[in-house]
Amino acid sequence: MLRNDTDSWGAPAKLFHWLMAALIFAQIALGLLAASWRLSPTKIELFFWHKSTGMLILALLALRLLWRLANRTPELPVGMPAWERAAARASHGLLYLLMIAQPVTGWIINSASNVPFRIFWLIPLPAIVTPDQALADLFALIHRGLFATLAFVLVAHIVAALRHHFVKRNSVLIRMLPWRTR
Ligand code: HEM
Ligand code: HEM
Repeated sequence: MLRNDTDSWGAPAKLFHWLMAALIFAQIALGLLAASWRLSPTKIELFFWHKSTGMLILALLALRLLWRLANRTPELPVGMPAWERAAARASHGLLYLLMIAQPVTGWIINSASNVPFRIFWLIPLPAIVTPDQALADLFALIHRGLFATLAFVLVAHIVAALRHHFVKRNSVLIRMLPWRTR
């Protein structure tokens, strides 16, 4: 089943969700490692993977949003309270915004610090701002603040998914699992 319907996600939506979730967890580990590593060739290499994976996430997100716009989204369980519906909508919207803002601020740090960089050795990353060390430092702070927000929203997202499954015993988690159709 390719397209989403009223009570289940199609295969492309599930693939985007889980592939990007795996990339984002790896990306967070790479960012934390790269930032804390002592200055050495390994640190440069960790940043190479962090920046490449981050730009891949941004590209995948563009495709994911196009697919989402071309599809309906499954309905939330009947009887779910209004505040929970609002919280689900707001947190999903925030996750999408963070998946854009996090790589774009990283891209700004890279441009402002004037570091030439090729994504996965292949595609030269164009500069989106002119070189400016103060701007690079400011955006490094913003990038870190966004990560703190992402970490917080992600924990809430995962707790909510587990609550749907184990406490409310509805199909919200099951219908996102790759091997289940509904
Ligand atoms: C979903 C995408 C991304 C996530 C979740 C993410 C997350 C992180 C995290 C957790 C850190 C460590 C923060 C710290 O402890 O100081 C970090 C640092 C950094 N990231 Fe990203 N990042 C993303 C995308 C990118 C991209 C696309 C670039 C560049 C093209 C980038 C460039 C950097 C740089 C330069 C730093 C070091 C900042 C500093 O000097 O403190 N990031 N990122
Ligand atoms: C173990 C980790 C995760 C679990 C258990 C999980 C679980 C779920 C579930 C069950 C849904 C479906 C909600 C519904 O049917 O209404 C969902 C949707 C969503 N998840 Fe996750 N998720 C995880 C990781 C992530 C990560 C890392 C991100 C991105 C930062 C993410 C972003 C989203 C977004 C944006 C949606 C809304 C989809 C839409 O409406 O288009 N998830 N997640």
